[in-house]
Amino acid sequence: MKVLSVASECAPLVKTGGLADVVGALPGALAEVGVEMRVMLPGYPAVMAALEGAKVVLKIDDCFGGKGRVLSGEAAGFDLLVLEAAHLFDRGGSLYLDEHKHDWPDNPERFAALSWAAAAVAKAGTWRPDVVHLHDWQAGLAAYYLKDSGIPTVLTIHNIAFHGLAGRDQIESLRLDPHDFDREGYEFWGKISSLKAGLVWSDRITTVSPTYARELMRPEFGMGLDGVMRARSGDLSGILNGIDEAIWNPASDPEIKGYKSAKGKARNTAALRKELGLPESAGPLCVVISRLSDQKGLDLLLEALPALIDNGGQLALLGSGSPAMEVAFTHVAEAHDGVAVRIGYDEGLSHRMIAGGDAILVPSRFEPCGLTQLYGLRYGTIPVVALTGGLADTVIDANPAALATGVATGIQFYPVTSEALAQALIRLTELYADPGIWARLQKNAMTQPVGWAQSARAYADLYEVLASA
Ligand code: ADP
Ligand code: GLC
Repeated sequence: MKVLSVASECAPLVKTGGLADVVGALPGALAEVGVEMRVMLPGYPAVMAALEGAKVVLKIDDCFGGKGRVLSGEAAGFDLLVLEAAHLFDRGGSLYLDEHKHDWPDNPERFAALSWAAAAVAKAGTWRPDVVHLHDWQAGLAAYYLKDSGIPTVLTIHNIAFHGLAGRDQIESLRLDPHDFDREGYEFWGKISSLKAGLVWSDRITTVSPTYARELMRPEFGMGLDGVMRARSGDLSGILNGIDEAIWNPASDPEIKGYKSAKGKARNTAALRKELGLPESAGPLCVVISRLSDQKGLDLLLEALPALIDNGGQLALLGSGSPAMEVAFTHVAEAHDGVAVRIGYDEGLSHRMIAGGDAILVPSRFEPCGLTQLYGLRYGTIPVVALTGGLADTVIDANPAALATGVATGIQFYPVTSEALAQALIRLTELYADPGIWARLQKNAMTQPVGWAQSARAYADLYEVLASA
């Protein structure tokens, strides 16, 4: 089974969020179940610099405003196909934003080019995939470009909040048929939607948790596309993300003082307090590692924080994103001894925080899957999560019944409000104060499966169905 995976990020090469982790984990996880996966990426500077043994597989004279080439080669252990197109991808800033944190104005063309080149490579036949697997809006148009090719496609929604919208005046430049600019096609409120094109024309749709698959069909979560999701409900399924258990392993993590059971965490907690300048405390040290965006609900944490601090708890936050949120958390850290905030992106610190934290907080308003609560489970760092999306599917709330049967792994709260979060934080401090219960929670968390085994099988089964249809 040969699968071409098309995406805008892939860890460890280029990453802004969990999408990169998942795209980077799938080839290894799927190799275990007999799937040969190649990843197709844009030729950003970091990808071009890492690419070895590059061979030209396709020349594209008119690649959305300049010349392009598709190269095959290896980087970071991946078999890659890379769209080299300097006018689209050889620039500073981040993957999607310029140095002023504004979207690059030509993002629709940049990722239409990636999608178009992926379709062209798949059709060219030198390495003909049995299935093309598309990730998020950046690859959505590939389903459209492949619609008459006979090559089946599956689109995975990692986040329906990002649509890849372009003006109607770009129909021609994005190589779309104007006849498909309607409600049944790629039109979305008078604009072109790359994501909607993917949702309409891909053969199957998956998302990254079963609960998010159901939520997407409701107006509160569908971001205007819930009707499309309902129309395609028969082709939609949720396949839970896993984590890379080699990278996130408390016994062998080079960033921490390794441990096999939760007893070994204490040294890491002490080291983290020291590193972040937090005082000793009898209460739980809570950590957050997150993009600072509306999705993540961290404004609710700002409001609920007294419930934690007044009950002896502490907070350490690592994140970046909305400038207003960066300022707000920095001020909170200045005002409280028990709060430490690091603005920025820091892979090493994220490992030390997961190992050193007693609990990890994920109060998201919506969360397609979420990865940091899975890291928390693996490291015995108890997740406190909103009851939504993948957070609902991966944590078992410590309610009386779950405690009595000994299966609880964390705390869930609902509705997603600052009041309910405050109650959850109080519940956390109470559970933490009972060493017997806390040890049981940690043990349950650390033994819950969070790897890729089951989901890799689910993707492989889906590819089989698509390839044999
Ligand atoms: P999302 O993709 O919506 O941002 P996920 O929980 O799926 O959320 O994935 C986020 C990923 O990015 C995780 O691997 C997390 O550890 C990482 N991450 C987020 N912010 C930071 C940061 N400031 N420093 C280091 N890693 C971060
Ligand atoms: C998105 C979602 C996140 C998910 C990740 C990987 O960024 O916000 O919940 O874990 O994709 O699928």
